[in-house]
Amino acid sequence: MIFESHAHYDDKAFDKDREELLGSLKENGIGYVVNIGANIETTKNTIRLAEKYSFIYGAAGVHPSDTDELNEENFMWLKEQCSHPKIVAVGEIGLDYYWDEPDRKIQKEWFDRQLEMAKEVKLPVVIHSRDAAEDTLQMMKGKHVGDLGGVIHCFSYTKEIAREYLNMDYYFGIGGVVTFQNAKKLKEAVEYIPLEKILLETDSPYLAPVPYRGKRNSSLNLSYIAEGIAAIKGVDYEDVVRITEENAKKLFGIN
Ligand code: NI
Repeated sequence: MIFESHAHYDDKAFDKDREELLGSLKENGIGYVVNIGANIETTKNTIRLAEKYSFIYGAAGVHPSDTDELNEENFMWLKEQCSHPKIVAVGEIGLDYYWDEPDRKIQKEWFDRQLEMAKEVKLPVVIHSRDAAEDTLQMMKGKHVGDLGGVIHCFSYTKEIAREYLNMDYYFGIGGVVTFQNAKKLKEAVEYIPLEKILLETDSPYLAPVPYRGKRNSSLNLSYIAEGIAAIKGVDYEDVVRITEENAKKLFGIN
């Protein structure tokens, strides 16, 4: 079964047909979904979805762009959610210098504290890093997060950066961008990264693969992403699905 490692099904883009869509995943070969929190509210929504659907798991965390909402009180709440049986990761957390808000100092402070939190609760991390390769790496190395384990979601950096994360034994979330014709750098990285270190992800409702680029994305499109990876690596589609499922189960501790 296909393992969807990163989606946002609580997004309002799914308000009209969420139940129908989620209900159709299994019959289309999608066996597991990790719904990702991006702030306090979406972490709440994530837990609600994970409690409702047996095949949905969750990640609890605050995206760098939303870190200005964090304070001691809701941070404590966030940490408590990490002991929920369906919460399998802390995320998505990291640094975003593309949108570059709030102030980098604030982003760094809460990235640091959420990394620390993941260590305390012993959960892997889901990392969001955009236009911030150097600082992200530096902070993760400084925290010695190798033991923690985790995934670099929507990996968008070079082969050289990929090597650094491979040395830390991290996984790489590969999504719709791999099917874009102009994604030369990413295709090179995917060729280089061993299949044993790749997770399939959509980031739904965003980043739909070709031939649905620009439309609302859903896990139903993961087959296009798996096909893209299979073509780049010269392996069978079935192997991509099977191995990425094993990878995700190992990382998130799901049997
Ligand atoms: Ni995301």
